[in-house]
Parts: sequence; structure tokens; C-alpha cells
Amino acid sequence: MTAVFGVDIGGSGIKGAPVDLARGALAEERHKVLTPQPSAPEAVVAAVREVVRHFDHRGPVGLTFPGVVVGGRTRTAANVDKGWIGLDAEGLFREVLDLPATVLNDADAAGLAEMAHGAGRGRRGVVLVLTFGTGIGSALFTDGVLVPNTELGHLELRGKDAERRAASAAKERHGLTWEQWAGRVDEYLDLVEMLFSPQLIVIGGGVSRKHEKFLPLLKDREAQVVPAELRNDAGIVGAAMAAARAAD
Ligand code: BGC
Repeated sequence: MTAVFGVDIGGSGIKGAPVDLARGALAEERHKVLTPQPSAPEAVVAAVREVVRHFDHRGPVGLTFPGVVVGGRTRTAANVDKGWIGLDAEGLFREVLDLPATVLNDADAAGLAEMAHGAGRGRRGVVLVLTFGTGIGSALFTDGVLVPNTELGHLELRGKDAERRAASAAKERHGLTWEQWAGRVDEYLDLVEMLFSPQLIVIGGGVSRKHEKFLPLLKDREAQVVPAELRNDAGIVGAAMAAARAAD
């Protein structure tokens, strides 16, 4: 089978690697470059090309984007340059990389990977994968099927965008202790639980690496709350999965 490549475009870094789809793992060590600042489309696309060219890859490429993506077009850009709004990102990547390209939301990509190879493996019913980082990303699944672009990080919490209060960047910004931040995460989880009644909530994003610091501080709730298993690689793996599906 043709190799499939995954690229995770984040607020601070752009990382990519060829993916072993059967194992749901990176086939080679990933290559990372810093996300250009400002993160305007042309600069990011050039950085992505550098990441892909680092490998001798000639197959489909899947790419994550930290905003809403519908039909390859990026529609929102909460934490990246506003030049992405309304752009045919998929078309742009195809042209510049000269390879088949598929673009999807970053949390959706992480969710696909967790459902296939990580903490959501084999789980039916309603599963919510949440990523805590610069923002809060969400991926909603029902019986393993993704409802894309749910954007639950922008629910309103105490009169504010929820991600401004409860993303892990809010912990850094306000110098919160783990206990204080866990309190905010609990409030946020109360809200999503009230709205969606998920049976399982998977907590991902960079901070999930330190899950033992805050998951035990969260209160008991109806939904089972577990850490993501693929951690840093979830976006790359999920992006490659989406590209493979599109190439089928
Ligand atoms: C964006 C989402 C994204 C999340 C995590 C939010 O601000 O609106 O699309 O998934 O951040 O990057």
C-alpha cells in the first residue's frame, strides 16, 4: 500500500511523519519546525513543504488545522492568522506539495486516532475527545462515527469563551495551580456533560502527558474520564487516516 503522511499544524510547531496505518503509529521519527509567526497561510504552507520534503514521500498527505474545515476550506481561525478564513487550504496544499492532500480539524484528527488506536478503541455510544492546549478542541463520536467541527471549546462559560478559561494556556496565563485549573476543567466538563451526556470523555492535548497531576483532582461524574493514549502523535496519525480514507 502507498505510504500515507500526516502533518499536525499547531500554534507553536508543525510536525509530520509517514504513518504506519495498521499500527496507528509513526513509521519514522517525526520532523518538526516552528510555526511561523504570524502564521499566515503562505508562511505555514512553506513550513509544511519543508516538513514533507524532509522525507522521501510520494503519496497522499493529511493535514490538521486548528479551526473549522469544511470541504477542504478553512472557515475559522481562533488561534492562527485570520488569513486562513475562507481559504481553499486543501487546494493550496495540493498545489504546493504536488501531492493529494486532505485537511481536517486538529481535534477531529486526534479523535479519529484515539478511537481507532487509543483510549476510545472499540467504544460505542457517545464519546467526546477533548484536547486542551492553546484552545480547547473537541471531537464528537456516536458509535465510532465522527460528527466533524463541533467546536465545543467556544461554548460559553461564566460569560466567556470556554477555552479562554479552561484551556491549558489559561493555566499558564493566569499562573493557576493544578487544583485551580482542575476546578475550571470540571466546570467545563459539567457543561459538556449536561449538553451531550457522553459515556466516555477522552482528555488529550499536550497537557494529557501530565494527566496524573490533574485527572485525579477532577470530581466523579457520569461519564468515564480517561487520558488520551496517543498523546503527541494523535494529530499526525489521525491526519494520515483521513488522507487514506479520502484516497480510497
Ligand atoms: C478552534 C478549534 C480547534 C481548537 C484546538 C479552537 O480555538 O476553534 O477548531 O480544534 O482550538 O486547536
